Amino acid sequence: MVSAALKYGTIVAVVVAVFYQLFLKTLIFVGMGVGRHVQPISDFPYQCRKIQDERLQACEDMWLSEETRQLFFACSDPFARQQWMPNFDRFNVSGRSRTDAVVAMDIDKPKGNSFEYRVLKTPSYQTGDGHLYLVGLTGKDKPNGIDIALVNGRPPRDRETGEYLDASNSGGDFSIELFETGAHATELRHKETFEHAEIKTPNNVAFRPGGGFYITNDHGTAKAGWKFHLAPFINNGDVTYCDVKGSCGIVSTSHAFPNGLHFSTRHNALLVPSAHTGGIKVYTPNTPHPELTQTSSIPIPYPIDNLSEDSNGDIWVPAFPKGLEVLKAYADPLGFTAATTVFRVRRQGEEWEVEKVLEDREGEVLPGATAVVHDARTGRVFLSGVVAPFVSVCEPVGRK
Ligand SMILES: *[C@@H]1O[C@H](CO)[C@@H](O)[C@H](O)[C@H]1NC(C)=O
Ligand SMILES: *[C@@H]1O[C@H](CO)[C@@H](O)[C@H](O)[C@H]1NC(C)=O
Repeated sequence: MVSAALKYGTIVAVVVAVFYQLFLKTLIFVGMGVGRHVQPISDFPYQCRKIQDERLQACEDMWLSEETRQLFFACSDPFARQQWMPNFDRFNVSGRSRTDAVVAMDIDKPKGNSFEYRVLKTPSYQTGDGHLYLVGLTGKDKPNGIDIALVNGRPPRDRETGEYLDASNSGGDFSIELFETGAHATELRHKETFEHAEIKTPNNVAFRPGGGFYITNDHGTAKAGWKFHLAPFINNGDVTYCDVKGSCGIVSTSHAFPNGLHFSTRHNALLVPSAHTGGIKVYTPNTPHPELTQTSSIPIPYPIDNLSEDSNGDIWVPAFPKGLEVLKAYADPLGFTAATTVFRVRRQGEEWEVEKVLEDREGEVLPGATAVVHDARTGRVFLSGVVAPFVSVCEPVGRK
């Protein structure tokens, strides 16, 4: 008896230890942030304010056009995002937003406590039910215009009858939409819809110099059901490349909830953050082929969201110091704001140097940020959050 207890006790201990290594350690220390020192916003040399505006809510992502000084936002409705957000297991099609829109803000034209902006029309977008369901967004300045790429999380429909299908079985029907616009944008001209079997659970999109784009499939092949929930734990996410003709293939596998990736032309690197295990993986593309070789990793043990790069080549990183708060904010977007941390990652030779730039322990003024953009010209930092009913601007004070 004693030896049997010992034997099974040992097995149980091994199982618990393996489970801890594989799942719980990440969940407790990265996801929940147990033992983490989180600072109040007053510790940082910035003056931050909220911009409360009906059209600037639930803006999941941003991109700054340095050439035209327009900041593009992918905005929605915080309550509709509770119902329909296929990347987050929200599959109530009838509760979806019909007002998602890209907003272009002129960041050199202050107006009140905000800035002048335009809600961009999309008259030439006629796909599906004519609405966009915004997730990720990126852009590219060209000699005479701007390309904008959007992740579009459409409700699934029967191809023949057009009837809406039960998304809790099939997941979202994702596409990548390519648009064109320019300075003083008032509308987005639709150029192309990319649909492909490898555009599965896209979270974000990054243009590849020379053509095509990379996406992160945050749950890989798992679009719904129990596999969806397990996907981050079994590293089911991937990075996929699509060429200009719309032919797509996986270029990197085994990612744990890969999120808002970013291609840096200056550093010739594709940066892929994880919202589950934390940290950023750095890849060099094998030109002319899009395959990736991992060249380094940036250890930031926080759930990380959408990356951006400023005109100095610094990478700006929004993170959640208390990951579980995100769920609370999802349930009550007006009543609760998750804590935010912002890191700046600066390349020094072969090293990537990480510095905490902002943190808001109490969620006082920062929006539980899923995206952050730094305007290097003014030093301003713009923050938006996927369910937050506002965006935030931080002005540097006593600049270093
Ligand atoms: C789905 O959304 C509709 C419209 O907002 C709402 O009335 C309904 O209660 C929602 N269903 C569920 C199951 O939450
Ligand atoms: C930003 O983060 C959100 C929340 O994790 C994610 O769903 C979204 O797709 C990301 N957007 C971008 C642009 O990465």
